[in-house]
Amino acid sequence: MGAVRFPALPDFPWDSLAGAAAVARGHHDGVVDLSVGTPVDPVPDAVGEALRAAWDSPGYPQTWGTPALREAAVEALARRHGAGRSPDEGLDPDAVLPTVGSKELVAWLPTLLGLGADDVVAFPDLAYPTYEVGAQLAGARPARVGDHQPLPAGTRLVWLNSPSNPTGRVLDTAALTARVAQARELGAVVAADECYLALPGPGVRATSVLDPVVHGGSVEGLLAVHSLSKTSNLAGYRAGLVVGDPALVAGLLQVRKHAGMIVPRPVQEAMTAALRDDAHVADTRARYDARRGVLRPALEAAGLRVEHSEAGLYLWATADEPCRATVDRLAARGILVAPGEFYGPAGASHVRVALTASDERIAAAARRLAE
Ligand SMILES: Cc1ncc(COP(=O)(O)O)c(C=O)c1O
Repeated sequence: MGAVRFPALPDFPWDSLAGAAAVARGHHDGVVDLSVGTPVDPVPDAVGEALRAAWDSPGYPQTWGTPALREAAVEALARRHGAGRSPDEGLDPDAVLPTVGSKELVAWLPTLLGLGADDVVAFPDLAYPTYEVGAQLAGARPARVGDHQPLPAGTRLVWLNSPSNPTGRVLDTAALTARVAQARELGAVVAADECYLALPGPGVRATSVLDPVVHGGSVEGLLAVHSLSKTSNLAGYRAGLVVGDPALVAGLLQVRKHAGMIVPRPVQEAMTAALRDDAHVADTRARYDARRGVLRPALEAAGLRVEHSEAGLYLWATADEPCRATVDRLAARGILVAPGEFYGPAGASHVRVALTASDERIAAAARRLAE
């Protein structure tokens, strides 16, 4: 084994939650697991039917995705998020590429873009851990950058994430526009991870980087990363998309063809069905709004302060104590949450509480918090 050298990566953070998980599972009425944000609601019927109808798919699927899938993606982005539709605005179906869930793309994008030791990959100071992992896999330099901090010299890729994991915070149009302008000055690619874009809370508007209001009519240097995991309850299917600058997408396609990063054909069919239907997205959004409406006041009544959390799937809460102490106190009530330190040093006294549990489990959590 002396000849191999695996990339140096952090320990998988969730392993460190085993102790708290064991305590929470010991609750007499069962655990309420609000740690990993994994969907629990059913796959929409029409989506499951599309998957079933495509079971007889003996041939290799196209890395690029079927034309129908790419067309459905562009239509959905225009309809749901006001993303520009004309070829001038870059949202040509040719500028869409399906991915094996979005985590895969997040982890490999710096490598696919050919970044290396001289290149900085910037991401928010509180962030989904895979942005840092992606930089490490490429041998590039990861950099946490606060919203109001300038991008470091040498930045070649900037991750945005609105609505945010873990904070549920939404960047307004001015903030998005400013980041895009800074990145363009440096010649850096902007990758906007928009996997929670379709799930803003009541009265909240979350804007896509592909909205012409943000990019001023050109998607040059921009990529939007979308996921059907949360919007359409398809985490188990591994279904994501990257869309944006046609030249960048064409480059990614070339590498991904060589590397065999291909979405299975039945999943491509399921994605097409999901992207054509907005009714199930509205249902999903309403479900999470209701869960947020129960859990947020329950946490506040129990003495936690909830910050941001206006959109997406998470409540970002603090008891002004080290996050592991809050995790342990909640675990003792049978509620499992994620320590904020998973998302960066700035999360050391916060916990992330996912809304991805059944209505019954969310109600159980609220009852336990009131005890
Ligand atoms: C911000 C963010 N990006 C990407 C992902 C990956 O999602 P998936 O691979 O299921 O599309 C997640 C999953 O939780 C996430 O929170």
